[in-house]
Amino acid sequence: MKTIIEPFRIKMVESIKMTTREQREKIIKEAGYNLFLIDAKDIIIDLLTDSGTSAMSDLQWAGIMQGDESYAGARSFHRFYDKVFQLTKFKHIIPTHQGRAAERILFEILANEGKFIPSNTHFDTTRANIEYNKGAAADLVIEEGKNPEAIHPFKGNIDLDKLENFINEKGVENIPICMLTITNNSGGGQPVSMENIRGTSEICKKYGIPFFLDACRFAENSYFIKMREPGYENKSCREIAREIFSYADGCTMSAKKDALVNIGGFLAMNDDDLALQARNVLIVTEGFPTYGGLAGRDLEAIAQGLDEILDEDYLHYRIRTVEYMGERLDKMGVPYLKPTGGHAIYLDAKAFAPHIPVEMFPGQAIAVELYRIGGIRSCEIGGIMFGKTDPETGQYLPPDLELVRLAFPRRVYTQSHFDYVLEVIEEVYQNRKNLPGYKFTYQAPLLRHFTAQFEIAL
Ligand code: F0G
Repeated sequence: MKTIIEPFRIKMVESIKMTTREQREKIIKEAGYNLFLIDAKDIIIDLLTDSGTSAMSDLQWAGIMQGDESYAGARSFHRFYDKVFQLTKFKHIIPTHQGRAAERILFEILANEGKFIPSNTHFDTTRANIEYNKGAAADLVIEEGKNPEAIHPFKGNIDLDKLENFINEKGVENIPICMLTITNNSGGGQPVSMENIRGTSEICKKYGIPFFLDACRFAENSYFIKMREPGYENKSCREIAREIFSYADGCTMSAKKDALVNIGGFLAMNDDDLALQARNVLIVTEGFPTYGGLAGRDLEAIAQGLDEILDEDYLHYRIRTVEYMGERLDKMGVPYLKPTGGHAIYLDAKAFAPHIPVEMFPGQAIAVELYRIGGIRSCEIGGIMFGKTDPETGQYLPPDLELVRLAFPRRVYTQSHFDYVLEVIEEVYQNRKNLPGYKFTYQAPLLRHFTAQFEIAL
């Protein structure tokens, strides 16, 4: 098999400033060992997120020039609406400035005290919006989905028995909506099978519960179905994506992922009544329903991006990139969450640096070292992000997994960038016994990972 090349040529470049290890030592120390507090100009390879970091195509940039900036009924809105409608067939399509704005509107209407919202795994912003409105978010992913070593083709699946029991236990009247996140970001970018999506839809129909998708990475999920689910190998990813949406009553979408844009999102649904309420909230907080907090040009870029994302050469290259990283890590013996998912590699920090106790944040130790050694920015998804303190005993309660996510921006880095990342990981891994732990010198009461400060704990 020949090398799978990037299926694009580069006609505009953005230079990367190289830094030395000495410079980076100083930068990371001044940032209190928090990678969120480092300026992007001081990063060599930025794998903090795949969200809003895509490179747009020539046709998307051409769309930007054609944006119709009329307040109401702009041509760009219709182009956006038509593309989303062709794909999802949802009757009401409401643009929002990003995914969490769609979530905020949806849950302001549906989630309140005493309401429970099940999902395979809610993404943090989804959970936060449910909880902000006093609802309860429940994660019902299959058992394999919680074990970093377990191999399963669709580790993002929801446990259908648990879902049905949950509905019976909490009472149908207390479940205003059920969700599935495709792919399951918080569980490692793992896909959900068509069978599981169909099964969820059937259970929801049986109980009369609306079923929504968090569709951020729907195209990557469609590609996994084509590759892994019997019966789909000869279908196009576009057909698969259409089938996925056909089982749902609506979706939230961050266009910053699988619509290949730097900003944007939407909320879509079939229910007229819910749509009316959503538009009313939208007008108060985001904007008129034909632009929803976006410029006309942004709507053009989303419309074009939704076409490009389902190009199978692109999806093949995209998923292969992540798989290639996994194969190389296997050869080095580096532990990571398996199998590789759609948009990122998640290093398993507990297995990588077992000498660092979870109270000293092994994930942070690895993330800091990846920066020190190679100028790579990754993201700790472990105790710093999700660890809690027991309010009564004051005891530290760590999360199940300590991960370091290296998320891959779409169409931004080439194979040599990825090879460089592997070389840096290898060096960090070889010296793993010398990695120090970290402790807080400052932490905010909420979402502490963004602003925390640390020092080395000996
Ligand atoms: N749902 C999922 C599954 C996501 O991954 C994200 C964002 C959102 C919703 C929220 O969308 O950022 O447009 O408001 N994930 C980013 C990440 C931030 O880095 O994984 P948003």
